[in-house]
Amino acid sequence: MSNHSHHNQSSDSHDSLKVTAAAKRELSDPIEGNQVLPPWLLLVFAAIICFAGVYFGIYHGGFDGAVFNESESTPALLSSKKAGAGAAAQVSVELSLVEQGKAIYSNCQPCHQASGLGIAGQFPPLVGTDYVVGSEKRLVSILLKGLGGPISVGGAAYNGAMPAWEKALSDRKIAAVASYVRATWGNTAPEITEAKVAALKKQLADRSAPWTEAEILAIPADAVIEGAVDAAPSASGASAAGAPAKAASATVDLDAGKAQYMAICVACHQPTGLGLFPVFPPLVNSEYVKDNPERLVAIILSGVMGPITVDGKLYNNLMPPQGAVLTDNKISQVASYVRSAFGGGAGPITPEQVAEARKKYGSRATGWTEAELKAFPE
Ligand code: HEC
Ligand code: HEC
Repeated sequence: MSNHSHHNQSSDSHDSLKVTAAAKRELSDPIEGNQVLPPWLLLVFAAIICFAGVYFGIYHGGFDGAVFNESESTPALLSSKKAGAGAAAQVSVELSLVEQGKAIYSNCQPCHQASGLGIAGQFPPLVGTDYVVGSEKRLVSILLKGLGGPISVGGAAYNGAMPAWEKALSDRKIAAVASYVRATWGNTAPEITEAKVAALKKQLADRSAPWTEAEILAIPADAVIEGAVDAAPSASGASAAGAPAKAASATVDLDAGKAQYMAICVACHQPTGLGLFPVFPPLVNSEYVKDNPERLVAIILSGVMGPITVDGKLYNNLMPPQGAVLTDNKISQVASYVRSAFGGGAGPITPEQVAEARKKYGSRATGWTEAELKAFPE
């Protein structure tokens, strides 16, 4: 310090020149006051806002929460709903099961790895193993209940615990991930539908323990899942055969149907299904509920209006259409519930029947009149 000041005091001409040069290198003092933003920055902001506006305009998804629900979203939902809120906007272009399964595989990836090759000695591979590409019944059984104890996969021994998924993943997600592992990494087994997962889950309802190798191998290597009615006659081409919708009782989920009823229909038709004279007609003792299934679906899709006589009493009101808010699957559930609870045990209605009715009547903009409903066959 002292050394330094001494140096300064004894400055000769050479030193003072150095100081001036240093001062010149300093930045000028900041000035107070407003300055206009540089034009180039304004342009950058304008470009960003413009891009964001256009992007949002295209992808707002109708501000519909379902857009982000991977099991119900459709590409049609994502591209703006220009067509208006009508039923016509509900296009049935869904992601295939395999495509949906890719995201759900994130549950399996920590153990079986992105490559499907597992980890030697710890987690068995899913590539080319019999459990994956063999019997659909074996695979879905494993996914529903889990697997434990010694097992040999691809000639190597494992002894770990694979968790059960029936509580953590919906039937649809299990179907999707099963279909995904069967169709990825060179695997080429056919997809497994949601209805099959649901059917097997029912059959195995009493079991909670994970499987052992011996138990899984006791399921025949070519066993298929019985009692399922395919919900989607799509990619697999499985439902080309002519006899759909017969043994449906096993697969339409009446509990889910009851939940729909309690959420949507109950406000008007009441928990008892007896309605509220003279405003809301009963579903009990109604020909519209227990007779022609297609007519019941048509009613739920498009609503009803004008004078109508139900169980001997006259009503003249308006039932709002539900076609735009309920999927085929949900309509199948609620219609089946209504028929079983209030329709004297009339048979269930499958999602395919709903899809068919939607194809015919989905574009209808107004509610049905009594005369039109009477024109349906019994
Ligand atoms: C916590 C780790 C873990 C997770 C997560 C997991 N598994 Fe497993 N998985 C295992 C283990 C360990 C075994 C072997 C069990 C044994 O040793 O008895 C196995 C066995 C299997 C098998 C039968 C054997 C084979 O390799 O073919 C299949 C099929 C399977 N898992 C599929 C899946 C799928 C699909 C998922 C995702 C939904 C999944 N696993 C999630 C650990 C896991
Ligand atoms: C906002 C009230 C309201 C809701 C919600 C509603 N309905 Fe209706 N529903 C009516 C009214 C009112 C009529 C009669 C319309 C008329 O008078 O023309 C009717 C008629 C019907 C009919 C034909 C007549 C009969 O009683 O059998 C059926 C079947 C029916 N509704 C089923 C359903 C089902 C199933 C749901 C739920 C998915 C539902 N409705 C939701 C008010 C409603």
